[in-house]
This record gives sequence, C-alpha cells and structure tokens, in this order.
Amino acid sequence: MVGIDRINYYTPRTYLDMTTLAEARGVDPNKYIKGIGQEQMAVLGEHEDIITMAAEAAAPILDDKDAIDLIVFATESGVDFSKAASIYLQHLLEIPNPVRAIEMKQACYALTSGLHLATDFVKSHPGKKALVVSSDIAWYGFETAGEVTQGAGAIAIIVAENPRIARVNSGVPYTEDVPDFYRPNTSDVPIVDGKFSIDCYNKALIETFPKHTYKYVGFHMPFAKMADKANRILEEFAISDDALTCVKSYSKTIGNIYNGSLYLALIGILTHADDLSGETIGMFSYGSGSIGEFFTLDIVEGYDNYMDTDAWQTHLTSRHALDMKGYEQAMNAFMAREKMHDYAYQDRAPEQATYVLSAIRNGHREYQKR
Ligand code: COA
Repeated sequence: MVGIDRINYYTPRTYLDMTTLAEARGVDPNKYIKGIGQEQMAVLGEHEDIITMAAEAAAPILDDKDAIDLIVFATESGVDFSKAASIYLQHLLEIPNPVRAIEMKQACYALTSGLHLATDFVKSHPGKKALVVSSDIAWYGFETAGEVTQGAGAIAIIVAENPRIARVNSGVPYTEDVPDFYRPNTSDVPIVDGKFSIDCYNKALIETFPKHTYKYVGFHMPFAKMADKANRILEEFAISDDALTCVKSYSKTIGNIYNGSLYLALIGILTHADDLSGETIGMFSYGSGSIGEFFTLDIVEGYDNYMDTDAWQTHLTSRHALDMKGYEQAMNAFMAREKMHDYAYQDRAPEQATYVLSAIRNGHREYQKR
C-alpha cells in the first residue's frame, strides 16, 4: 500500500480582507463573501516566492531526507523555463544529491498528476519515498474580474509505503482541449474566461464522477463558492452542508492557490471532520485547458497522530491584515521583482519566516535559511 504519509500546507502571513477589497472597488461586499465565497485572500510577502513557500510547507514534515528519491514540484507560477524549481528546493531543504528533481505543469491539475506519478514511483522503488509539492501565486491584476479569486500558498506531501495518512487510489481522467484559462509566454497574467471555465469544470466532473455516495468529497476551488456549485452537480450523491463547510474552511480565507486548492479541501476535511479512520474520501481535481480527474483516498487508522491541526489553524489566525496600500505595494513589488535579472533583498522578513529569497544574480535565485 502506497500513499500520503505526511501532508502540510503553507500560506503567506499577510492577507487582504474581502470587505476591504470590495469597498475599494465599489462592489457590494456580499458579492465577494456570499456570491464568490471568499472572506480573505493571502498576499505574498516581499521575502518569498514559490520556492520559499514550498520549503516552508515541506520542512516540518521532512524527517527522512535520505529516503527521498524523487522530488516533484507542481506549479503554474514557474520562475524559469528550463531549470526545475525542485532543484532550488532540494538545495534549500538540504536533501541529499542522489535524488531526481522535476517540475510538472498542467494548470491546477499538475499536483494530482505528481501525486499519482510519485505513488507509482514508490511502488516500483521499494523503500524509497517521494516529496511532492505544489506552490503557486494566483495573480490576475488590479481591478480585474479575477482579482477577488487570487491567493498564494503551497502544499507538501510525503509519499511512502505503508502511509500513515491515506492510501492513494488511481482515478478516472478526462482531457479536453479548451481555451478557458491559459497564460502564454507573452502575458504576465492568465487569460481567463471565468464563466466558461466553470462550465468546463462542471463537464469534467460529470464525465468522471463515479455516481457513488461519499461522506466527503474534496473539490478543486479557484474560489470557495465553486465547491457549492460542484456539489450541486452531484445531485443525489451530494455531500452534506457540514461536510461542505469542512471542504471550504481553508480556501475561504486563503483564496486560490491553484494546484494546491484541492488539497486545502483535504486539509479542511482532515482538520474538522470527526474520526475518518477507514473512510474513503472522493477528490475532484481540475486544471484548466483542461484535465479533470476524480480519484479517492482511503484514510488510514491513526492518521490524526501524524498531522498538527492546531498548528494549521494557528497559522491562519495569526496572519496580519493588510490595507489596500499594503496589498498594492506587495503585488507591485512582486511583479517588479519577477522581471528583475538582478535583485537584492533588504531583510525585513517576519521573524517566523525560515526561508527567504535573498537575491537574484544574473537571473539565478539565491535563498537563505534563517
Ligand atoms: N450578494 C450576493 N451575491 C452576489 C451579489 C451580492 N450583492 N452580487 C453578485 N452576487 C453573486 C452572483 O449572483 C454570482 O452568483 P452565481 O455564480 O451563483 O451566479 C456570483 O456572485 C458572482 O457574480 P458574477 O457577476 O458572476 O461575478 P464576476 O463576473 O465578477 O465573475 C468569477 C466571478 C469567479 C467568474 C471571476 O472572478 C473569475 O473569472 N475568476 C477566475 C476564476 C478562475 O481562476 N478560473 C479558472 C480556474 S478553474
């Protein structure tokens, strides 16, 4: 049996409240809070990027570095066309050099693909483990329709034999070439037809859902209200309102973290559901472009001994709210930095930050562990 041995998430320590954004944009806050389901969204700190976020998520669960034989980094916010972000991560986390390290891309689906790849890899390499991470910055631009569906964050998963959290079962995929959301090399932000994307998402769910009743189904959430919309598609197989509240609990305050959004649903279920031992959880993954996959996880007895749900929740509640000026400064700084060939960070990172992007030299990134 192979699957999720450990799981953790990270999101930046600063956020923007949706009421603040709604007031600044002259929109009724209920549109954002009730209509789109978002109460807050994470905003990236100046000291961080996709690699530091992935390191923050992975470090607390990385207790057996010598056994890691594969690192998969899923992202649609890549920092290099050639070099895999996983190589920066391998260095920063001091994972021994005899390891494979690759980056995977397919919009928000790549983490699911990476999880299945790693599961099959561990099955064929007995005794070895894989580190599978996603890290993304969802950025659509100021005063766009997508602005309310932004966010930033990372997921880290250790895949191993005899997993302590869940067995990963292979699923049913559905691929269709559609232009609902994509980011060509010429664009700093995605080109998105949000309403069409919801239709594509729903179609992929209908094509892959096995018409079976699950107590919990994790849904990919580009915004938290998407889980309500998807659940309605399941009709008589829909999950309960209480289960849906668990599914949305992290996304509604973190926002869109692209690849990791489905796994925030899992984190929410693991945090808030009563004993899940022996339960089979449904998972619906969707990546625009598009690929949908419905698969399942079998939760292992004693799983709750291997996750720190208090730390997960404290991380959220201890974040610092930004005003509009702080949000605009942070995102302007992010956009400017991502175009810099040379950059030096003046250390103003919060004291809890362990990993910092310290410089970019000749286009190559340098990091510090504090
Ligand atoms: N009170 C309560 N609800 C309100 C409201 C109010 N005052 N005003 C509007 N609403 C509701 C609308 O009725 C609508 O509900 P519905 O979806 O159930 O019909 C919802 O709020 C959104 O309003 P809408 O006018 O459709 O919003 P929009 O045109 O600004 O677009 C998105 C919303 C989500 C489509 C847009 O933000 C987007 O494209 N985001 C990107 C999503 C993405 O990344 N997709 C790709 C990855 S899968």
